[in-house]
Amino acid sequence: MIKRTFAIILATTLAFPAIILAQKWEGVADTPQMGWNSWNKFAHRLNEQLVRETADAMVSEGLLDAGYVYLNMDDCWHGERDENGFITCNAEKFPSGIKAVSDYVHSKGLKFGIYSDAGRKTCAGYEGSFGHEYQDALQYARWGVDYLKYDWCSSENINPQGAYALMRDALRASGRPIFFSMCEWGSNKPWLWASEVGNSWRTTGDICAVFDSVSNRSWMNSVMTIVEQNVNLRKYAGPGHWNDPDMLEVGNGMTTNEDRAHFTLWCMMAAPLILGNDICNMTQDTRDIILNKEVIAIDQDRLGVQGLRLRSEGALQLWFKPLENGDWAFCLLNRDRNPVDYTIDWETLCFTDTEVSNLSTCFDRTTYSIRDLWEKDSRKANKGTTEKSLTVNVPGRDVILYRLSPKDLSACGIGALPVSSK
Ligand code: GLA
Repeated sequence: MIKRTFAIILATTLAFPAIILAQKWEGVADTPQMGWNSWNKFAHRLNEQLVRETADAMVSEGLLDAGYVYLNMDDCWHGERDENGFITCNAEKFPSGIKAVSDYVHSKGLKFGIYSDAGRKTCAGYEGSFGHEYQDALQYARWGVDYLKYDWCSSENINPQGAYALMRDALRASGRPIFFSMCEWGSNKPWLWASEVGNSWRTTGDICAVFDSVSNRSWMNSVMTIVEQNVNLRKYAGPGHWNDPDMLEVGNGMTTNEDRAHFTLWCMMAAPLILGNDICNMTQDTRDIILNKEVIAIDQDRLGVQGLRLRSEGALQLWFKPLENGDWAFCLLNRDRNPVDYTIDWETLCFTDTEVSNLSTCFDRTTYSIRDLWEKDSRKANKGTTEKSLTVNVPGRDVILYRLSPKDLSACGIGALPVSSK
């Protein structure tokens, strides 16, 4: 009898392997995550006061209203493990403890994120989660954590698929829906295996506040170096599992043009929008970029398709992203330092996105209205239609970004397109 029961269990397990695997948390990443993270600007200067002040500013600056809901602490919050192996925080940096800080963040209507590492040590040398995965996930859940960024330092001889699946299972077992942000830098091609594991995965090494650089050798990557690595991975991204080309550097030292181009490209690539600047001290230019709701809507579009680079013409790059209701985002990027005049001849830009969405730009069959999303004067934002060509001037290291809306959807053969319920 015992033998028979065992045989049945074994047969069931083999036939339905999924039943013995935990699932990642779903419903937390229908669109790319938005928020703020301490690392790019503050690194080891993370502390309780910074978190509280940033939480206040995220609300008073209108960032929460614009969709930036996660406040994420990166590396350097850790203390030692206690006598039972539970992780503690650095009591000097966090005198009230993590639960009190998390409660404060939640009291502002925000969600709270934390950082750990699949290896023995974090990248800054603090306690990693290796060997403590379930215990750490439980502790995070007790603290009210909503988001875990999980790094890959000190991971020698650790299997990446196993390590990330282990933490996925631990987060699931904690009982609290926690966004799982994998930070393995693309080293083991997570796009090929992680759609059932993480809600997003880093595709590159670390970003820095440099727009373009000739050298690709350093660990710190310029915006354009990262774009080159992320652009060809679009077929792996979608609702629930996003390519993550790293956090934003807007407001951290690039020019306003470069910041605008960087932000726009992240939106065109349906990238996570995790701010990395000092929210408590922002210039108006920075605010104008990160709070532009129509640009954010390109990133957050419910279709969830990472945009594509259709072609390059000299320093100019032509990008498209299919959107809900037959709309398209169109971006002209000027990679060069000098401004470029360009005539957009819409009929030459008819194509079908055969790689991901199967949607077409139908400039030959219907006209689209053109809305300039970076034009501050709303009376000037209407740029007419695609009926005739349009000559534009693209400033150096900057973009033009349009939202194109078709006059006649049926002309494009789009009957069954997901239509917004908003
Ligand atoms: C790695 C990550 C960064 C940051 C640091 C913290 O380099 O890629 O995003 O989290 O570790 O030490």
